[in-house]
Amino acid sequence: MTAPDFSTDLTNAERAPRKLHVVTHGCQMNVYDSARMADLLRPLGYTTVDTPEGADMVIMNTCHIRERAEEKVFSALGRLRVMKEEQGGNMMIAVTGCVAQAEGEVLAKRAPFVDLVVGPQSYHRLPELIAAAHRKQGVVIDTEFPAEQKFDFLPDVAAPQGVVSYLSIQEGCDKFCSFCVVPYTRGAEASRPAASVLAEARRMVALGAREIALLGQNVNAYHGEGPDGATWGLARLLAEMAEIAGLERLRYTTSHPNDMNDELIAAHRDNAKLLPFLHLPVQSGSDKILRAMNRKHTADDFRRIVDKLRDARPDIAFTSDFIAGHPGETDADFADTMKLVRETGFALAYSFKYSPRPGTPAAALPQIAEEVKDARLYELQAELRRQQDAFNAATVGLTTPVLFTGRGRYEGQIAGRSLWLQPVVVAHGEALNGQVRTVKITGTNTNSITGVLLPREQIAA
Ligand code: SAH
Ligand code: SF4
Ligand code: F3S
Repeated sequence: MTAPDFSTDLTNAERAPRKLHVVTHGCQMNVYDSARMADLLRPLGYTTVDTPEGADMVIMNTCHIRERAEEKVFSALGRLRVMKEEQGGNMMIAVTGCVAQAEGEVLAKRAPFVDLVVGPQSYHRLPELIAAAHRKQGVVIDTEFPAEQKFDFLPDVAAPQGVVSYLSIQEGCDKFCSFCVVPYTRGAEASRPAASVLAEARRMVALGAREIALLGQNVNAYHGEGPDGATWGLARLLAEMAEIAGLERLRYTTSHPNDMNDELIAAHRDNAKLLPFLHLPVQSGSDKILRAMNRKHTADDFRRIVDKLRDARPDIAFTSDFIAGHPGETDADFADTMKLVRETGFALAYSFKYSPRPGTPAAALPQIAEEVKDARLYELQAELRRQQDAFNAATVGLTTPVLFTGRGRYEGQIAGRSLWLQPVVVAHGEALNGQVRTVKITGTNTNSITGVLLPREQIAA
């Protein structure tokens, strides 16, 4: 499919050099989308700048997952409004992403100084929409779920994302967990064809990527069309990705326990580039709450999957997501969550206080008192912190390949990531960006570990 030539819609003035500032909230899928929007606008004369001051266009790519995420959008918009006024109105403001999708009309009313509201599945139409916004008074809104897939209309990846690059291979979600807005903001689940993913991955590697994280809200449910006409699962795609010369490491996020099939588990044993690291959200350890959440798995199902993965790859580390205080959660249910956490042992985990989201089934149920949610979250986070510290401490003394990504916070330090994605800081004068080097782990800090580079001779010995 060829991309339509939007450029004919623009006047020469509209194609003049312009400064673009992109702000990204939310998940890594938004990080990917932000990079693609910048790629899309570059041929139209937009160069990206680091601050909104003086920008001709600001794109705010938003997240709707919890109330706090949404509040952030409105307060950031308040600051942009002032800036826009100071620039005599010469700043086009576009709100994209999940708040745009969920709150399109409300946004246009609450923030009429915004020029464009564009949902996460229609941003390939940005050039057209910008042209329309230049001509029209009032807010231009596009929150359709177009029949075409945006990926077919985006230009090739043009700017390097970095040593670690994110690549969306699947969009949307059909799972409808009781608490979650994603199926409403991102639409139905759809996988990209494997050939288009592989071509994009090769391009990212040519631009300097050494690690690629494949993205989707249920990335392990990937079922894209293969070049051979067959349907490829994620394991098959990862096997093909591993053949890309110059690509050192692979990972994928986020996975749903129900889509963790045996083929994918085997990939953790067989695919040498796949990191021994998996983000596998479980949300709760109580079967009653898992049922209320519409997760369609039990706590024991999760335990079995973890065991199988540990059999396949003994050094695998797990991270997860938890929600404290979903409607109906009793002290006993929460105790089941704590039990699951203690038994499993996580390298790291994210935990959230349940936040009722408009339009989701759980929001209509009787809610747990705020102070109960707070107390549970506190207890959960204390245990998860303890586990993170224990995990990091257990890696001291090990040698691990580290992929270096940049400089450390202090002069003479470089930083990278271990096999288990721990941030690693090493004292070293020379930048090693993009290189994988063996490091002996020597100590731990709050959120990172420290190490020393092993001389190459010593590794060979
Ligand atoms: N697709 C992924 C994650 C989606 S959102 C999955 O299925 O696991 C990331 C995390 O945000 C979720 O795993 C969940 O823990 C949290 N989350 C989603 N909706 C929430 C809500 N209404 N309140 C609190 N946390 C929520
Ligand atoms: Fe949300 Fe559930 Fe879909 Fe994850 S699987 S995106 S939590 S509805
Ligand atoms: Fe947020 Fe949308 Fe991602 S709601 S978590 S930005 S899919």
